[in-house]
Amino acid sequence: MLSQIDIQKFNTLIEINTLINSNYQDAHSLVTQILDSATRLCACESSSLLLLDQDAGELYFDIALGSKGAEVKRFTVKLEEGIAGWVVRHNKSVIINDVVNDKRHLQSIAQQIDYPSRTMMAVPMRVKDQCIGVIELINKKNDLSFIQDDLEWLEIFANQAALAIVNAQSIESARSTIQHLQDQLKTDQGYHTMIAKSPIMVAKLEIVERIAKTDSSVLILGESGVGKELFAEQIHLRSLRSTKPFIRINCAALPEGLLESELFGHVKGAFTNAITDRRGRFELAEGGTIFLDEIGDLALPLQAKLLRVIQEKTFERVGSETSITVNVRILAATNKDIEALVAEKKFRNDLYYRLNVLPLYIPPLRQRSEDIPELAAFFLSQGMLETKKQFAGFSPEAMDAMLAYSWPGNIRELENCIERACVIGQTQWIQVEDLFLKKTANPLFQERTQEEGSRDLKSAITAFKTYFIKKVLEEHQGNQTETAKALDIQRTYLSKLIKELAIRLS
Ligand SMILES: Nc1ncnc2c1ncn2[C@@H]1O[C@H](COP(=O)(O)OP(=O)(O)OP(=O)(O)O)[C@@H](O)[C@H]1O
Ligand SMILES: [Mg+2]
Repeated sequence: MLSQIDIQKFNTLIEINTLINSNYQDAHSLVTQILDSATRLCACESSSLLLLDQDAGELYFDIALGSKGAEVKRFTVKLEEGIAGWVVRHNKSVIINDVVNDKRHLQSIAQQIDYPSRTMMAVPMRVKDQCIGVIELINKKNDLSFIQDDLEWLEIFANQAALAIVNAQSIESARSTIQHLQDQLKTDQGYHTMIAKSPIMVAKLEIVERIAKTDSSVLILGESGVGKELFAEQIHLRSLRSTKPFIRINCAALPEGLLESELFGHVKGAFTNAITDRRGRFELAEGGTIFLDEIGDLALPLQAKLLRVIQEKTFERVGSETSITVNVRILAATNKDIEALVAEKKFRNDLYYRLNVLPLYIPPLRQRSEDIPELAAFFLSQGMLETKKQFAGFSPEAMDAMLAYSWPGNIRELENCIERACVIGQTQWIQVEDLFLKKTANPLFQERTQEEGSRDLKSAITAFKTYFIKKVLEEHQGNQTETAKALDIQRTYLSKLIKELAIRLS
């Protein structure tokens, strides 16, 4: 017959198994949960999970639960020391019900934290028979002794913990290899060809030329797909840093904890899957430029750290207290209304001012249709290479349609549209049907849409309002405060209208 406590142990094991199998990525909380369950189910006061640092020949406390947990975490244990060291050397479990008189016991830690151990169980965490660490349970409650049954359960928990850790470590190591290869690809030959024919773009590139020669931060603004990343590349390539790395990072792509270690690096043991020291993007960018894409999505605690890098050029790797100084130029980009984020206190005012020393606004494609023929030809030649098909060009109707379309997704949308047309196209020229352009909703081409749309006065007023607000916003480069002034309305009312009318803007 299974006792109540055995049933609880089984259930807990099943839960843990499910989490491990679901590829749960936060190894630290998973392993903490495993240790906490073992501590509770074996009815003891405290517990620790030590991981083996093979290079240093020592064990460090990855997790320590119980009243002195935080204090214990400062210590490391040499392999030739203590009960944990013994367990690793012999790759064997042990029950000790008279710790004080056991010669292996490391008195020094117990004394320093003033926590006498009476009874203890320690088991190795094994992966393919290789010991990667130790779990210790300390002081069975009610002055009881640990028994063989406790030890057998703990061995099962320790196996689960080892599995969770190894899974997380292999994910971390694969992620880091992929990142490294991607960085290499991007820094070696990853720069894009920039096409800029329209007077607006020619003027922007002249500004870029001047901006490039300074070391100030630049905030690149503009709708999605307008080419902000390409402008960041151009600033770097035209600067004195051009032979040094250009490191990109998308602030929206990773959860806060991972992003922090990605930006600033970490030291071994900073968190459960930190198997080695790792340099962050700021260190990789030394001497060059870092491009922080989607900066509007950066979490507030990281904004504070970034501000410090800008002001003092220093930061610390996660888990380390040693400050690192870097010489890196910072470029940032967002398609969000960053002033609105500042007003909503989602983006730090001081950081905004620091980044915005040189703002660079990239206009949407619909305001520079002169670029369309050349961009289209460029994407067509790429599409032909990819599809191994030949096209003579675009039919006049296809070109007219592209020139008239509003391109809400900007150049990225144009690129995708032509790529698709190359796959679909069956004649010598790309036809208008191959482009699959949606009926344009751009109020700048109202004569066309109004014929198709509703003709009542209310709809006409709404259409005009949308068009007019959008136009004035664009003239003020998306700055809502300035636009509200120009329209002679309150800024809050403008925000409300933008929401109501679903105005998508730079
Ligand atoms: N001037 C240009 N010449 C050639 N290709 C361009 C140009 N501008 C943008 N592109 C292409 O359009 C796509 C989108 O560009 P990019 O990623 O720089 O846009 P973005 O403004 O950063 O967009 P998002 O805000 O969505 O990140 C890329 O594939 C890029 O190669
Ligand atoms: Mg981008």
